Amino acid sequence: MPEADVSNILVRPCPEPKFGDYQTNALIGLAKRNQLNPREFAAQVVEQLDVTEYCEPIEIAGPGFLNFRLKAMALSDSLAGAARGEHLFYHTDAEPRTVVIDYSSPNVAKPMHVGHIRSTILGYALAKVFRLLGHKVVTDNHIGDWGTQFGKLLVGWKEHLDKEALGQDALAEMERLYKLVNAASDGDEAVLARARNELVKLQDGDAENLAIWHEMIDLSRHQFDEIYSRLRVNFDETLGESFYNDRLKGVVDELIAQGIAEESEGAQVVFFNDHKSLKKHPAIVRKSDGAANYTTTDLATLEHRQNTWQPSEVIYVTDGRQQLHFQQLFALYDRWKPNHGMKFNHVWFGAILGEDGRPFKTRSGEIIRLAGLLDEAEQRAFDTVSKKNPDLPEEERNEIARVVGLGAIKYADLSGNRQSDYVFNWDTMLALVGNTAPYLLYAFTRIRSIFRKLGDESLTRPKAFALDQAEELTLAKHLLRFGLVLELVIEECRPNYLCNYLYELAGHFGSFYENCPVLQAGGDTRTQRLALCNLTGQVLQTGLETLGLETTDRM
Ligand code: ARG
Repeated sequence: MPEADVSNILVRPCPEPKFGDYQTNALIGLAKRNQLNPREFAAQVVEQLDVTEYCEPIEIAGPGFLNFRLKAMALSDSLAGAARGEHLFYHTDAEPRTVVIDYSSPNVAKPMHVGHIRSTILGYALAKVFRLLGHKVVTDNHIGDWGTQFGKLLVGWKEHLDKEALGQDALAEMERLYKLVNAASDGDEAVLARARNELVKLQDGDAENLAIWHEMIDLSRHQFDEIYSRLRVNFDETLGESFYNDRLKGVVDELIAQGIAEESEGAQVVFFNDHKSLKKHPAIVRKSDGAANYTTTDLATLEHRQNTWQPSEVIYVTDGRQQLHFQQLFALYDRWKPNHGMKFNHVWFGAILGEDGRPFKTRSGEIIRLAGLLDEAEQRAFDTVSKKNPDLPEEERNEIARVVGLGAIKYADLSGNRQSDYVFNWDTMLALVGNTAPYLLYAFTRIRSIFRKLGDESLTRPKAFALDQAEELTLAKHLLRFGLVLELVIEECRPNYLCNYLYELAGHFGSFYENCPVLQAGGDTRTQRLALCNLTGQVLQTGLETLGLETTDRM
């Protein structure tokens, strides 16, 4: 079938292990599309498909599923290769792609909130998975450092600045200034006019306003950087919105010249008349007062990314409320540069809710400060560690608490379906059982402790693995799926697949360790089981680190 589109012929782990290790249902759809009998078609494919090196004879099931079962020999070979350090059950892509990932992207003069931390953690994890699989990634923190809010901020700064408060918590003070002027301008034309005037002066390059604006950016970035360094997150680029200012007028002029944007009530607007879902949602690219907006800036940003990195994919990680914006942006860019050849992906996520099911806020309704949240995570983890392990030196307990506490916050953001809302709950995320960071980190420490007991005894690399016990076999087969899971993660931009995989891995390891003596075993069995422990530890550690978590040897 030389014409067939085989890009989505997916072989997946078999949901029912009793039917096989891997399965594909792709032939059923392919047969239907070509008016063939699926079972007969499947039989023809099987006849010509030579996987005897890896698999027992393929079985055709149901309406035309193919079920594959790994040969013991193939399994053993793969494990032996991994034990020799040749691979860790994944392969880097033979055709690396360039991917731009836009994440975190907080706004100057506003404290980062839990939504920004979620974007930061999801985006960073995705970048790491892409990189692990050999792709070139450019991460860009698209900071909101331009826009109409600076008019009010400048009025606040000039009329109400509390220098001492600024020194203590710059973002809180700037937020206070903004709120103050915002409230004062409500219905007060004079204040609004002052804000507009300050904004125009800033846009025209007034030296004093520019200097204040720069200071606001520096102070904000300093505070963002503190959070990033605590989370051990970084970016290749931090090109804020203002980076694109010079290009905005040109973008709109091009859109007008190409007949894409048209005047409507004094503004320049793009209508999507033949677009199913955007028909009712035209996008403004120049407001009636002549100012560009978020959409214009994002068009210029995308153009810059295309010209600078020629990516094959651009990913934006923000909360779900920006879906319409990105649908408009992508549709608009397609019209502006029809041959751009990039894949656009808005990786959106749901809200973080408080126990009451409402958006996560403090009791008085303020947004939660990130720094305080991270402090509390570390403190709670410290209390638990101190209770369980009072004899560890305090310094070590502090370090463990840092890794576990921050890991718990990160893992809570990563482990759910990103599009569902989730309830922020300390006890759930810090629990030692269940799909949590402490559980996985603890599983890793158990493996480390096996090797501590070995002392200087060097590991022998088994040439083959017998895998006589059911638990060994299950663990080994799960290890082999690591790469498949990583590929799924980047395909759908869903790090929770990796979380689930690691959680299952820890579970399989638990039953293996309970049922198969390792240190007490003798001869080849001992060597092979130790190697299984070691490989599990490596996959766990690589997996956790790829998610952006740190690990610890003791807990
Ligand atoms: N600054 C925006 C916010 O806080 C997020 C920006 C996302 N990235 C982008 N290129 N629009 O909501």
